[in-house]
Amino acid sequence: MDFDFQTELEAIQKTFKKPVVKIVQPTSDLPELDVVVPDSWKQIQIAPLYDVHIGNPQHDGKLLARHLKWIEETPDVLSWNGGDMFENITDFKMGHTTKSNEEQLIEATETLASIKHKLLFSMAGNHEDRTYKHTHISSAKYLANNLQLPYFGDYCFLTVHWKGNRFRILAHHGAGSAQTPGAQLNSARKELAWTTADLIWTGHLHQNKVDVVYRVDYDQKNGRAFERDTIVIISPSYINYFGGYAAKMRMIPGVRGLSVATLNADGRIDANLHARGKRI
Ligand SMILES: [Fe+2]
Repeated sequence: MDFDFQTELEAIQKTFKKPVVKIVQPTSDLPELDVVVPDSWKQIQIAPLYDVHIGNPQHDGKLLARHLKWIEETPDVLSWNGGDMFENITDFKMGHTTKSNEEQLIEATETLASIKHKLLFSMAGNHEDRTYKHTHISSAKYLANNLQLPYFGDYCFLTVHWKGNRFRILAHHGAGSAQTPGAQLNSARKELAWTTADLIWTGHLHQNKVDVVYRVDYDQKNGRAFERDTIVIISPSYINYFGGYAAKMRMIPGVRGLSVATLNADGRIDANLHARGKRI
């Protein structure tokens, strides 16, 4: 099927609303991003989208639509694209889709248009990286450009400035193939070996994990030590299990949807997970 992608993209971009927070990309040797949230906000809900896999027949579009509406309509929610936003096929990795990569790219842009004003940045997942690996053209960067967002190919050191706090968030798509709950929790906190952050956020494993790690930091102004716990989160995916690749490969089924972390004015971070299902 032929599309006039440029015309379609311009029409989508016309619907974008202005960002609800100030996003600044500082001059730095490291992949950093600063976000300034108005002090009038009572709290900040961080709800990134990971492993949405648009174009995959197992993609749970109904659940995603519900969550996009919640992100769009809830005033204190911020989000980002954590990668694997679309299935992205290559000759080497055919994936599980009947749509072309161009169609998936424009569909992903269109899908995220309603929450563009809540999105802080856009990352690459291993599915988008397939194109880069074989052609050195980054389909993840195209999605970020379409969405007019800062792009990060691996890590993003995100600092949220709000009410005198600096919440340090380290985001990555995630990597590896940890299958057991213990291995997944170890994977979630991997970066604590070489950096500190208040929140380390990955996806990729299509599972939902949260862990809190006790930590002590030093105040650079007065030299005193203080407690500063880290929360590590793995976000789930928007992929149904049965009938798909994971079930065929006997991988452990993952839950679907969003993980949400609430940043509070006193520095506390709350994680909000959902266990859906009937209780009969
Ligand atoms: Fe994924």
